[in-house]
Amino acid sequence: MNWTRRYAVGGVLLTLALAMGTLAGCGSQEPAGPDKIVIGFLVKQPEELWFQNEWRFAQQCADQYGFELMKVGTEDGEKLLSAIDVLAANRAQGFVVCTPDVRLGPAVMAKAKSHGMKVFSVDDQFVGSDGQFMDVPYMGLSAMQIGRNVGDALYKEFQRRGWPIEETAACGITFDELNTLKERTGGTRTALIEAGFPASKIFLGAEKTTDVPGAFDAANIVLTQHPDVKRWLVYSVNDEGVLGAIRAMEGQGFGADTVIGIGIGAGTGLTEFKKEKPTGYFATCMISPRRHGFETAEYLYKWIKDGVEPPKDTRTAGVLATRDNYLEVIKELGLEDALEE
Ligand code: GLA
Repeated sequence: MNWTRRYAVGGVLLTLALAMGTLAGCGSQEPAGPDKIVIGFLVKQPEELWFQNEWRFAQQCADQYGFELMKVGTEDGEKLLSAIDVLAANRAQGFVVCTPDVRLGPAVMAKAKSHGMKVFSVDDQFVGSDGQFMDVPYMGLSAMQIGRNVGDALYKEFQRRGWPIEETAACGITFDELNTLKERTGGTRTALIEAGFPASKIFLGAEKTTDVPGAFDAANIVLTQHPDVKRWLVYSVNDEGVLGAIRAMEGQGFGADTVIGIGIGAGTGLTEFKKEKPTGYFATCMISPRRHGFETAEYLYKWIKDGVEPPKDTRTAGVLATRDNYLEVIKELGLEDALEE
């Protein structure tokens, strides 16, 4: 074996080892028995509570039906494509995926096809080379409606507090590269305007990453541009976006009496409700990691085992929760075990 060949083999082994290194909580690393169904669950941001909870509920599904679940964090295209090879090497027959980039859709589907694997997409919908959504089973949020609910609730609370409009503005932290996120903040903006909030007082900050630091930076730019605003309505694509903006506002002396923030999520923002003193995080539109984790895994399992094709497009709703009623909403959504300490 010459040097190049050895290096290449070493490289493949290293890639496999690295990919295996990001496997999270797979239970036993023993290969599954020959009859056992193996399913992957690949997520773009394994550090985000939403995705950890998707994994948790997918694992409940695996335990209930007796299949093997391989959970892999795939933060970029290279990791995603090599994870599919690792799944194939472990005889997985399919995977659920929230892709780090929706334009990877064609590459992911080609690789899955080469291994004879079935694919179910969750949260972020694949986009084909023609710019259209791909014909791959998908479960995502009713994003526009959820965004509208946030806008309606923001306006209602703004009116209830009797804030003068001259002193008030809205700060929307956006990420328009991703359709499900663009629809959320677009829906909120539309609902605010329809309710009577002036469009000229809605200021947008585009975040570079959909996490707390990304939103923190985007909100600080909005705050610097509008030093005259005394009271803020805050919305974003998810809880992390609203929390980042609220933390930036706290840095400038704003708090629960001058900020009304409403998130979208199922976990990250709840710690705000547990704090003794209220913060600017007023409410959240609670979405269901149970449906996105358990149901997607269940659809894929039945597709593999019994040949039952899953529905092409499933949209899930949200329920508004505040400090006062979030424990009831958690119960309604069957999330007690996941979200209560
Ligand atoms: C996207 C967002 C996540 C979460 C999911 C819900 O993937 O990045 O934070 O809101 O949608 O579907």
